[in-house]
Amino acid sequence: MEKTKVTMDKIVNLCKSRGFVYPGSEIYNGFANTWDFGPVGVELKNNIKRAWWKRFVQEEPNSYGADADILMNPNVWQASGHIQAFSDPKMDCKSCKQRFRADNLVEEHSKGSVKAEAMTNEELEAYINEHKVKCPHCGNFNWTQIRQFKLMFETSRGTVDGEKDVVYLRPETAQGVYVNFLNVQRTTRARLPFSVSQVGKSFRNEITPGNFLLRTIEFEQMEHQTFCRAEESMEIYEKTKQKALQFAEDLGLKAENLRFHDHDKLAFYAKAACDIQFKYPIGWEELNGIHHRSTHDLTQHQNLSGKSLAYLDPVTNEKFIPTVVEYAIGADRLTLAVLCEAYDEEVLADGETRVVLHFIPAIAPYKVAVLPLQKNLSEKAREINEMLSKHFMCDYDEAGSIGKRYRRQDEIGTPFCVTIDFQTLDDNTVTVRDRDTMQQIRLKVDELVAYVNEKIFW
Ligand code: GAP
Repeated sequence: MEKTKVTMDKIVNLCKSRGFVYPGSEIYNGFANTWDFGPVGVELKNNIKRAWWKRFVQEEPNSYGADADILMNPNVWQASGHIQAFSDPKMDCKSCKQRFRADNLVEEHSKGSVKAEAMTNEELEAYINEHKVKCPHCGNFNWTQIRQFKLMFETSRGTVDGEKDVVYLRPETAQGVYVNFLNVQRTTRARLPFSVSQVGKSFRNEITPGNFLLRTIEFEQMEHQTFCRAEESMEIYEKTKQKALQFAEDLGLKAENLRFHDHDKLAFYAKAACDIQFKYPIGWEELNGIHHRSTHDLTQHQNLSGKSLAYLDPVTNEKFIPTVVEYAIGADRLTLAVLCEAYDEEVLADGETRVVLHFIPAIAPYKVAVLPLQKNLSEKAREINEMLSKHFMCDYDEAGSIGKRYRRQDEIGTPFCVTIDFQTLDDNTVTVRDRDTMQQIRLKVDELVAYVNEKIFW
């Protein structure tokens, strides 16, 4: 079977037509770079989040969960440095009024040969002027100077106009874990090293959002913070890199489409930082980050709050601020990677093409589709659907030819189609069609749950 090229347009179109993801606020002509998840999209993303939680909280020793609020005391963002420094260098095209990130302009113009992330604003401006880098939108060379563009969304709290306090929508979930570090440690009696994970929404006023779910203004993060001693932190950093890579591969992303990318520019406090990149249809892009954050965040919060965040070692009685190693990944960006990897157009032996999503069964939106061969078998089919739905997400479909119904399930990545035919009424057996091989086997209805459970175990 031949494979054809996957493009971002094909993914976006399939997502919309099959109910994975719709453009946000579509009936009002949309709202740039916002996307809403539909029935199968929300299942897929939830399954990915559950798989991540299973791997990094449930199965990892000394690992705990937390869920801090999105709105936090603004001092949190003062201490973390976001209020002062969380911004991107932007340039406006004076001809077409479009706004761009100066570092992106340089990266794209140099085709990645210049490491723009390590350049100062003066160096970026000098490169753009020297190479006469043109506006990607209108083609003119007519730029404003670089200005820093704040990435945090602001809102306000208070009831009286003019007496409202500015509060921020969190740009990362990490700080919610740092401010609760001692709460978690005391209530769990955890000893170093231990980890705290959080999954939740984050918001960034990105200048150049785009490329579907890759860069949006509202997204979900899954972040895992490991608190440890300084002397063990680099070993934990290396292990975290490997665990993050293994997780991506176990979710179905191919090793050849994943690579490490060490950061050229480190924050002044960081000892090491790297991304794992995925080869999306538009090229290599960051999938997740692994950051050695030293004692910076906890020290900052201790200093501004005036509350000790020191850990007391119960054996040695030493008191010190732990070092943090962070692994942060976007649930939406990972969902996009999974969709791109799973997408396939197969030209079959009979010349027909089928679109199929080869998700690993554990994260497929529906595990089983229940399909009566004919409408007059629907009573038995509904009975089987009701039984299976107690165990898995199932789809029930009795409209159209069986071939078309199989194709529909292929397009949403359902690993097993259970077909009810006239023999089912005689001997309580059904056919089970495998999405990837398209082979069918005959099973007793009583065997279905165990069969599917074994295949979806992850
Ligand atoms: N606490 C560290 C942190 O937030 P980050 O590298 O800025 O680090 C972590 O973000 C991950 O969050 C990224 O690797 C990416 O997967 C996701 N992410 C960041 N900004 C995003 C955006 N605008 N849209 C979608 N996902 C985003």
